[in-house]
Amino acid sequence: MQLPKITQKGPYKVNVEAGKTYFWCTCGLSQNQPFCDGQHKGSGLKSRPFVAERNQTLYLCGCKATQEAPFCDGTHSSLKVNDPS
Ligand code: FES
Repeated sequence: MQLPKITQKGPYKVNVEAGKTYFWCTCGLSQNQPFCDGQHKGSGLKSRPFVAERNQTLYLCGCKATQEAPFCDGTHSSLKVNDPS
């Protein structure tokens, strides 16, 4: 299997709480997208932690190709692969 796996060609809209640490899934195998559930073990990839600065709505990357992880930077719109989902 080629990793990371694209979970969706677009961001996940999530509400986060100030001061809380979140773990963004980088491998695309988590069943709890866009967050890590430990499925990356053995893949050579690991989750990307971040702390929410305030209570807010964020758009976290679902294509796993962003250059601004964990946030969507629009890269998904230029991907040349088919959406596997
Ligand atoms: S969902 Fe990955 S860059 Fe937008």
